[in-house]
Amino acid sequence: MTGKKAYISTLGTYLPKKILTNQDLEKLVDTSDEWILLRTGMKERHIADEGEYTSDMGAKAAKIALERAKLDPSDVDLIIVATLSPDYTFPSTACLIQAQIGAKNAAAFDIQAACTGMIYALSIGKSFILSGMYKNILIVASEKLSSITDYKDRNTCILFGDGAAACLIRGEGPGLEIGTISLGADGGQSGLLYLPGGGCRNPATTETVNERMHYLKMDGKEVFRHAVRRMELAAVSCINDAKLDPLDIAYLVPHQANTRIIDAIAKRCQIPQERVVNVVKHYGNTSASSIGLALEQISVEHKIKNKDNLLLVAFGAGLTWGSLILTVEGDFKNGTSS
Ligand code: UT7
Repeated sequence: MTGKKAYISTLGTYLPKKILTNQDLEKLVDTSDEWILLRTGMKERHIADEGEYTSDMGAKAAKIALERAKLDPSDVDLIIVATLSPDYTFPSTACLIQAQIGAKNAAAFDIQAACTGMIYALSIGKSFILSGMYKNILIVASEKLSSITDYKDRNTCILFGDGAAACLIRGEGPGLEIGTISLGADGGQSGLLYLPGGGCRNPATTETVNERMHYLKMDGKEVFRHAVRRMELAAVSCINDAKLDPLDIAYLVPHQANTRIIDAIAKRCQIPQERVVNVVKHYGNTSASSIGLALEQISVEHKIKNKDNLLLVAFGAGLTWGSLILTVEGDFKNGTSS
């Protein structure tokens, strides 16, 4: 493995057209635009159409990543999809995306690390590249969180949005080199954020539907507390392992769960505000997709420069958390390396 590297060559993203604003939410639950903005930093989020699924959004993002790389779908070796809102329990959403994009030579599987999914998936993709097993790997994060959100629960329904992000990973630059990675989990806290119904513990019955068990449940305050602490520790461990200083980080690209969480991590990691990517206002929390959407944002704004270090950090149900450093080699603009 010595000397081998893994790079994100291109990105692709997709956001559904429909927008759900704070004012729209005021009509659904007892809330206000002021409360949501103050407590979360959110103004609006994108919501998929009824007939538009996680696989459709993921396939659209994946196609853009391939077009930007000028790679034929038949040259993709592996598709890894990170999602907590798959089309079905099985088959995997990765298989559905494989068929939609015509990646007929690719292996395909899903992973489940909730909002940390993109970082877990990137670490798996890197390992496959470094082992020499595969050359072209598509990582796709896609979420239709609106399908598992209870629009009668004001504690959760204000937070979530739909969307997808994809990236193509290869063993050669230019691109975003996937460097140091730090991953963690604490299954002892799984009850803080979960979907009780639909699995083998609570298969669908009239009772589970009536009790609204097919919607996600969250203890927001506790999740908030763990999110700040775990993301801080993961980010600091990554910075230290890479032998970097906080000042060496050009951009912090955190999971987009809440502006207050993002601000707290930046402060604890000593990363100045102007180096923090925050797209929570327009997208809400899109779980696994959020980091990819944030990366796309800084790449279309032409903010990323050669040799920049980008610090990705995420936290989610499980509990899971992770951090990862990307170092820019060459140019990376509009989701494309050159
Ligand atoms: O992506 C995975 C990770 N997810 C997260 O990181 C989310 C973490 N949690 C959070 O972001 C925050 O906890 C929330 C945004 C969910 C809630 O913010 P908070 O500052 O923790 O509010 P709270 O739950 O402590 O509620 C404060 C008050 C309560 O009223 P009382 O008991 O003080 O009278 C709530 O009932 O705000 C009330 N409240 C609301 N009021 C208006 C809760 N939700 C709403 C709402 N509109 N939507």
